[in-house]
Amino acid sequence: MKIDTSLTMLQLPEALSQAGLQFSVATEEDFDEIMGMSQGIYGGLDYLPTRYTDWLQETNRTVILARKQGKVIALESVVVIDDGETMLVEGLRVAPQERGKGVAGVLLRFCSDLVKSKFPDARVTRLTRDDQLGPKDFQKYRLITKQGILLVRFRAEELKLRLSDLGLGDIQSSLSTSFKPPPVRLDNTAIRRLYLTSDRMHGVLPNATIIQDWQPFKLLPSNMAIVLKKDIDWMVDDVANPTVASLCTFPFRVPIGDDWYYLNIDMFGKDLDHVRQQFLCHLQRHTATLKGHVMCQMFLDPPLWKPMMEFCRNILNVELVKDYTEQCVVESDVI
Ligand SMILES: CC(C)(COP(=O)(O)OP(=O)(O)OC[C@H]1O[C@@H](n2cnc3c(N)ncnc32)[C@H](O)[C@@H]1OP(=O)(O)O)[C@@H](O)C(=O)NCCC(=O)NCCS
Repeated sequence: MKIDTSLTMLQLPEALSQAGLQFSVATEEDFDEIMGMSQGIYGGLDYLPTRYTDWLQETNRTVILARKQGKVIALESVVVIDDGETMLVEGLRVAPQERGKGVAGVLLRFCSDLVKSKFPDARVTRLTRDDQLGPKDFQKYRLITKQGILLVRFRAEELKLRLSDLGLGDIQSSLSTSFKPPPVRLDNTAIRRLYLTSDRMHGVLPNATIIQDWQPFKLLPSNMAIVLKKDIDWMVDDVANPTVASLCTFPFRVPIGDDWYYLNIDMFGKDLDHVRQQFLCHLQRHTATLKGHVMCQMFLDPPLWKPMMEFCRNILNVELVKDYTEQCVVESDVI
């Protein structure tokens, strides 16, 4: 999305001025102030410190700030995807002292109006939530799909040792059937062929949607161009007849503490053995180089949460951080 970033303050509709908020496009200089109001959000797993500079460069994204008496009190980012049809909302946050007063609602409305004025074809607003949604939310949203969230933590060096102690034989014997061929890592050509030029992934992906690190994408070439720019390991059990596929976003630092990294694995499909295999391959690859603490969050088909949690605890000896929660992809019509 192209927005005139030379404007430091956008023109406000009357109603928004009355709310006492001023809106602007975020710049590099706002970073410290934004971080100042983001303490502790997402349980310390905030991706914004790592992504902020890149977000400002992305052509289809705009990061909007709300200020009150000159002070930044809220942020939201909007990305236009799905060939201009969908406005994806990310990074929403309101300063702790300003929550519960309707600020998020006003900011969402402002961003929606802004996108509509630039992208008249935008039909839906889509977002991913991990809080408990109630009946009131479902009057507003349609549920596109949901995934279970399994969050574990470990020290990279310890898990690396554990994986080598276990050895491939033990890992194979923890699988319910005798032999599974190893997962296949995909390059860009293979990804395009599998995801775009065949319908083989339709039965694997939930609602034919790729969810990559909280971002839901329909299977379209324009979306694939966005996803393929990122550092991701793509894996599948069988290219000809896939049943499980996974995307592991390269680890990045998170502000929970010094030397803490976040490892995000989006897992699709229902075969538990293949899910375990791909999970282990991603862990092996990234613990080979990482040093320090890792928060590893895997998103998976909800019935697989419990057996994978037991596998993590009993076989890998890693610590469960929280009980079952869900990631919900929801959307509403742009009005
Ligand atoms: C979630 C948060 C942004 C809500 O801000 P707020 O100003 O207190 O919210 P409001 O008073 O405007 O009311 C909430 C409205 O925003 C909606 N909302 C709450 N969380 C939302 C989310 N993650 N995405 C979109 N809308 C959300 C509510 O459903 C409600 O809509 P309604 O008015 O139609 O009922 C704020 O509590 C916050 O910053 N939390 C920490 C960061 C966080 O968890 N962000 C969510 C990212 S998924």
